Amino acid sequence: MADKPSLLQGARIELRPLDKSNIPLVLSWLFDPEVNRYMISGHEPITAEEEAAWYDTMAASDTDLVMQIHIHETGEYIGNTGMHHVDTRHGGAELGIMIGAKDHWGLGYGRDAIVTLLRHAFNTLGLHRVCLRCHPDNAKGIAAYEAVGFTRIGRERDAVLIEGEYQDHLVFDMLEAEFRERHSA
Ligand SMILES: CC(C)(COP(=O)(O)OP(=O)(O)OC[C@H]1O[C@@H](n2cnc3c(N)ncnc32)[C@H](O)[C@@H]1OP(=O)(O)O)[C@@H](O)C(=O)NCCC(=O)NCCS
Repeated sequence: MADKPSLLQGARIELRPLDKSNIPLVLSWLFDPEVNRYMISGHEPITAEEEAAWYDTMAASDTDLVMQIHIHETGEYIGNTGMHHVDTRHGGAELGIMIGAKDHWGLGYGRDAIVTLLRHAFNTLGLHRVCLRCHPDNAKGIAAYEAVGFTRIGRERDAVLIEGEYQDHLVFDMLEAEFRERHSA
């Protein structure tokens, strides 16, 4: 992966590198049942030390890019978004997002953050396809992904075991050409 960016500017948000001083806030988001309801993380205990080790792994990784989402105008930190399994050989990556500040849901920040990260994926990293996985009941997530141009391509049955229950995952993807058709450079 090219050097990791120190700032990615969106329309109303900006993406900044992960900062370990925010770990207590991130854990409070991850363990909030309303936030983690449709997420893979947050259902098992994680200590601050384990989270800090994960931050180190992400910082050193060539195949992961995770960033903080801040509101441009106020600087307020509202969540994280990132790409995993970045594969420059085949041009692929998998996107994830969590807006932990619930009072900021449904205001367009998620869409803005996703488009900002995709612009980096296609323009700077030269990727060809970005996919994501989403719980079938995550209506807000599905609406946000479709609004930015993701296509639902399938359903993985019993893909994740959460709180003792196997759950399906929907799979979405977007190709570089589809991104360019819909979004300006
Ligand atoms: C999913 C998430 C990233 C979306 O971000 P957001 O900033 O809330 O979403 P946006 O405001 O950009 O877009 C939400 C879309 O859902 C629509 N929406 C809002 N509430 C809704 C609801 N209850 N049911 C269906 N659609 C809803 C909005 O109108 C908007 O659609 P539009 O773009 O067509 O107008 C965010 O809510 C979140 O992080 N949730 C908790 C963690 C999570 O679920 N992460 C994703 C795991 S796959």
